[in-house]
Amino acid sequence: MELPFAEPYKIKVVEPIRRSKRQEREQWIREAGYSLFQLRSEQVFVDLLTDSGTGAMSHNQWAEIMTGDESYAGSASFFKLKDVINTRLDMPYFVPTHQGRAAENLLFSALIKEGDLVPGNAHFDTTKGHIEFRRATAVDCTIDEAADTTMIHPFKGNINTDKLEKVFKENPREKIPLCIITITCNTSGGQPVSMQNIREVSALCKKYGIPVFFDAARFSENAYFIKMREKEYATHSIENIVLEMYSHVDGATMSSKKDAIANIGGFVACRDKALFEKISMYCILYEGYLTYGGLAGRDLAAVAQGLIEGMDFDYLESRIGQVAYLGQKLAEYGVPCQLPTGGHAVFVDAKKFLSHIPKEEYQAQTLAVELYLEGGVRGVEIGTLLADRDPVTRENRYPELELLRLAIPRRVYTNNHMDYVAACLGNIYENRHKITRGFRIVKEAPIMRHFTVRLERL
Ligand code: F0G
Repeated sequence: MELPFAEPYKIKVVEPIRRSKRQEREQWIREAGYSLFQLRSEQVFVDLLTDSGTGAMSHNQWAEIMTGDESYAGSASFFKLKDVINTRLDMPYFVPTHQGRAAENLLFSALIKEGDLVPGNAHFDTTKGHIEFRRATAVDCTIDEAADTTMIHPFKGNINTDKLEKVFKENPREKIPLCIITITCNTSGGQPVSMQNIREVSALCKKYGIPVFFDAARFSENAYFIKMREKEYATHSIENIVLEMYSHVDGATMSSKKDAIANIGGFVACRDKALFEKISMYCILYEGYLTYGGLAGRDLAAVAQGLIEGMDFDYLESRIGQVAYLGQKLAEYGVPCQLPTGGHAVFVDAKKFLSHIPKEEYQAQTLAVELYLEGGVRGVEIGTLLADRDPVTRENRYPELELLRLAIPRRVYTNNHMDYVAACLGNIYENRHKITRGFRIVKEAPIMRHFTVRLERL
């Protein structure tokens, strides 16, 4: 008999979580203005708001926390991290930052000016925010297949090279400071980018003299998908796949809160010394001296150790296997999701789930509130609230995909939790026609409204 799969770790520390009554949840979510962000964590039973900074560190990472070197300059923990980035990502230069968006801030301060275009695959919202804040434009060149949640495609994060070349042909070189490949592509559903696509995009960028960077937050999950789905890489180690991926780019911004399994941290890495020197100046200005960059020494050490653990095949198999497990359970209940399931999250297609609710009443947010009421499970809306208003017309932008994201923290929940979450959504799906109305906005911020929006039931 083939032996069943089991996690490649055992649990040494546990943190109690508390179930609540539906009546309590009704009051809490009303007080929160129907915003999941306004809830207190104690009011949540299973928290799938994000996989960012919410992972469980290993005992080796905790050991690094205890032995971290807090020297202001020349910290040993910095050199530990430098060694990992130099040897395992083959990036000669890097500066640490306090998280991913800070890395974007440093890199973009050095490269992007007003009126520029930054092509890529469905840029993450902070990336887009940092581009638009500089009065530049993010151009989405993702393959069209990504917008069809029912279509099975192994690499829905891929860039359409025709779309990309069109941007290069129609605009002067000086207006395109870089191209960004987000691995995996969070916005399109935690979907991977193939090595072939990375290679082709890199070659095209080289042809036009445009630097190419990874938004590398989930690079090792991307490497796992390359190994599993791209035939010629089936026998390669994750470590070698990672090295080859990075060999095609000029640098990367990283949020260490994801695939480095740390609670905080990030970095910018690059090959060009002159660019590194420019970034270094912004690092000192915004983050801190070059050997700590806005982090404690212990955090640098935990990131170094986490980067190594994040590339372990058995870990990745269990991590991505758990995401697929939740996706499979939901499929059994008939719940429509982005297929195939991604690396860090399951994305429920709220447009299909609540097709009888008008988009003007925020389908994905309505589903997020229902899931919380049903079982105290917190997901996050990736839909109209997040897409915000058009900066010129101030009208709502209705994105192609209206999704409820269930992001799974690394090494935190068991599959019993996944069964629980799936059953909650199964119940809601069975009774979906009892949900007759959605929400209207009563208060919102001028940008990034989804964090602080307040809603009212219609
Ligand atoms: N890039 C990607 C692809 C991300 O998913 C994130 C964060 C960032 C950059 C920014 O990194 O949070 O460290 O500043 N994503 C989190 C999420 C917030 O929930 O998906 P950060």
